[in-house]
Amino acid sequence: MTDPVASGLISYPINDFGPAMKGMVIGGLGIFHVFLAQFAIGGGMLMAYFQWLAMKGKEPAARTVRDSYFKYLVLVSFVTGAVTGVAMWFTSIQISPGTIGKMVDVFHWVWATEWIFFWVEVVAGYAFYRYSKILSDRTRLALLVIYSIAGWGSLFWINGILSWQLTPGDWVKSGNIWQGFFNATFWPSLFYRTIACMVIAGLVAAVIVNTMPSLSREDRTRLINRTARFMLPIVLMPLFGLWFLAAMPEDSRAWVMGGSIAMTLFMNIAVGASVLIGGYIVVGLWRQKLYINGATATLLLALAFGASAGGEFVREGVRKPYTIRTVLYSNSIPPEQVAHLREIGCTTGDPFPLRDAASMPNPQLQLGALTFRNQCAVCHTVNGVNGLTHLMGAWTQDQQRMNVAKLQWTKGFMPPFAGTPQELEGLVQFIQWETAKRPPTWPESRDERVLAQIKAWLNEAGTGPATQPRPPQQASATNIPTGTR
Ligand code: HEC
Repeated sequence: MTDPVASGLISYPINDFGPAMKGMVIGGLGIFHVFLAQFAIGGGMLMAYFQWLAMKGKEPAARTVRDSYFKYLVLVSFVTGAVTGVAMWFTSIQISPGTIGKMVDVFHWVWATEWIFFWVEVVAGYAFYRYSKILSDRTRLALLVIYSIAGWGSLFWINGILSWQLTPGDWVKSGNIWQGFFNATFWPSLFYRTIACMVIAGLVAAVIVNTMPSLSREDRTRLINRTARFMLPIVLMPLFGLWFLAAMPEDSRAWVMGGSIAMTLFMNIAVGASVLIGGYIVVGLWRQKLYINGATATLLLALAFGASAGGEFVREGVRKPYTIRTVLYSNSIPPEQVAHLREIGCTTGDPFPLRDAASMPNPQLQLGALTFRNQCAVCHTVNGVNGLTHLMGAWTQDQQRMNVAKLQWTKGFMPPFAGTPQELEGLVQFIQWETAKRPPTWPESRDERVLAQIKAWLNEAGTGPATQPRPPQQASATNIPTGTR
């Protein structure tokens, strides 16, 4: 058995989330977390603006709204934001321990700095919540400004780490963390997110203003028009969105421009929802000074959630097949290890037993299940979401073998297969056995010619990702069409 540390790979225990795809578990959670965190940041900025309006005597109802709003901010976003934040750590260490380990390793102090900012945000927020009544106006404003700067600062720091995953830039060669931090997508995504924070906070204000019986209709209209002004930077969103698209790697851009149906769809949802919200804010609320009722405001907020969800899905999705571009594939295998793993096997260094090994009729199926767990399980389930039995169950055995051997060419957002021909055959048998609804007996496939053919296909595919030129193809009589599914 190869020592996993010496081979450059450390195995972590991998949890199984049943029919829910792992990427979706973390993505789904991430969407809520990001939305709540952005609300908390934008909310602080909006309340600082309201406090200023109150102090200047420009808006008599500003104080009432400020206190009511801050209660929601603290109760909803602090509590749920913190809970989902902890849940993010909890799931990421189970789903992608290699990636999160690398991120903590590279950005240790940046992350620590982010936590300090977050800590200041929380302390300032609670202090305001608890003592606002007995403070002077100037101190209130100071607290809210500190809160906003700290909140935005935490976004600044985390944004560097997240954007580095997609565009690590010159860090890859130099190892200089500032080159990684201020990477190509850092600024567009920071500006984009800042505006998202302001818009979400503004739409929440429009909802809350409608729940306050003490306000007159005139008060509400004025407050909502004020809020509309605060949200006006939304007109710049397309600019930063396009900048972000322009700065991302070419192949990633191709996914959202039609290359991947799901990603293109999600991007269109994000763009469409944002255009609707932007149009309403600019034309309806700002130009025509319209009033919006609670139902419309809630609808706009739901649209904003849809836009955030679509945006986050795209941001996570376009990174495939990497979690850290060019450094780690989504299944936590480093690209330079692929050739080596094709020799020694991807399951060799995995010391963790299969949960249901006893239910499998032969060791080859167990090998296949382990191979699935190590290489495919981050993005696929067996029978559930993006399930392999659905995707390849209808293919012939040889189609299955070839398309998995040439995984990166089957779909460019998958990493190359990184195991031995025996592991690949085990995986194919495992999927067939699962497709056949797990019968109690299953013959082992031990045909040397099959293994030799798989090896030839693996060689044809090469060990690089689909972004690198494909190795020259020998004339081969075995180009099997995948057919329809
Ligand atoms: C980075 C994430 C990722 C990894 C890792 C990954 N896949 Fe995929 N795979 C996808 C996505 C996304 C699709 C597209 C699904 C669709 O078209 O609906 C896909 C599609 C497929 C398809 C269908 C291809 C077609 O042409 O219809 C097969 C077969 C497949 N994957 C097998 C595997 C196997 C086997 C592994 C592990 C050795 C694996 N994948 C690893 C993300 C991944």
